[in-house]
Amino acid sequence: MSTTPQIIALVGVGNLGKYICEELLADDRFDVVVISRREQKWLKDHNVNVYMSDYTEESILSILDSSNAAALVSFVNCPHDRYVDIHRSFLNACILSKGCKRFIPSEWAGNIDDYPLLPNFYGTSRQPFREILKESNGIEWTLFNNGWLMDYFLPKDKTYMPPIPDEFSVDPNNWRACIKGTGDEGQAWTCAREIAKAVVELLAAAEWEPTTYVVGEWGTFNKAVRDMETFYGRSLQLSYKSASDIKRDIAEYANQEGSREHEIAYVGEWEIAGGSACPREKTLRQRDKYFSNIKFSTLKELLQLAKEKTFV
Ligand SMILES: NC(=O)c1ccc[n+]([C@@H]2O[C@H](COP(=O)([O-])OP(=O)(O)OC[C@H]3O[C@@H](n4cnc5c(N)ncnc54)[C@H](OP(=O)(O)O)[C@@H]3O)[C@@H](O)[C@H]2O)c1
Repeated sequence: MSTTPQIIALVGVGNLGKYICEELLADDRFDVVVISRREQKWLKDHNVNVYMSDYTEESILSILDSSNAAALVSFVNCPHDRYVDIHRSFLNACILSKGCKRFIPSEWAGNIDDYPLLPNFYGTSRQPFREILKESNGIEWTLFNNGWLMDYFLPKDKTYMPPIPDEFSVDPNNWRACIKGTGDEGQAWTCAREIAKAVVELLAAAEWEPTTYVVGEWGTFNKAVRDMETFYGRSLQLSYKSASDIKRDIAEYANQEGSREHEIAYVGEWEIAGGSACPREKTLRQRDKYFSNIKFSTLKELLQLAKEKTFV
């Protein structure tokens, strides 16, 4: 028996959002609409129904109502001082809407249970919005986190995620690694495609928890480097950036919020604190509860997959 597909509104489909968009398009249980400030060839090529918006509450509300959306998922990656305002308008629009009563704000990072204020710039963006969410009524929401995107270990033609060689410790495109800290700090990573499959399953689930975690593999950068070297049979050009180097960068760029250097320094602090390592017990419990039909790849498995496929 066929049922009416649930309409999911995605906002801020740039890099990561493409995976969720594709997985929703492939699933008969859902229809997808995208809310954006601009026209995008990729969305046109995928025949996605796109609504233009300036991300004000009025505009989002009118789109949620006219599209009959049941849930809103945000991937907006905006300057940190805009994050709260933009997400507040998304939340208010959901509250006022006729039927959009589920909301996933743009988080997609690490262990926010233990490190809610890392990276440091989340202290003035995501954390205040999390407080607003907690006070809200009438909306079911979850903060979805996945550790690092494992795709950063892949060559750039295999993933929608553009390389971030200064930020992520391993640079597979130039075959080198500049590891932050000792390299033995705990990390977690998940393949973007599998994150997308998990989001789709969560959208089909009857109830949500305030935070949702998925992880492909818990590891360290030293182990990841060994895995890469073994898989490809060649040594990476390796260097380390110590905790005191990162501290020095933070002191140098602390007043330059919005600059790339500021962001990289504070992501380094998050990385050596083990902030990407989503809490194991909760993650595994939620894997059983929501995601038992998804195979989450380890790094070695993803490297093998990327070897076999033109695109992951
Ligand atoms: N865990 C990880 O390793 C990892 C890695 C990368 C990203 N992330 C997180 O994943 C999420 C999505 O990242 P992404 O790389 O997919 O993002 P992205 O492609 O850089 O940006 C996503 C969208 O944000 C919107 N946007 C950008 N600047 C904006 C502004 N000034 N005002 C309003 N909207 C703006 C744009 O949407 P429109 O142009 O359509 O309006 C853009 O397409 C973010 O939360 C990011 O922090 C996590």
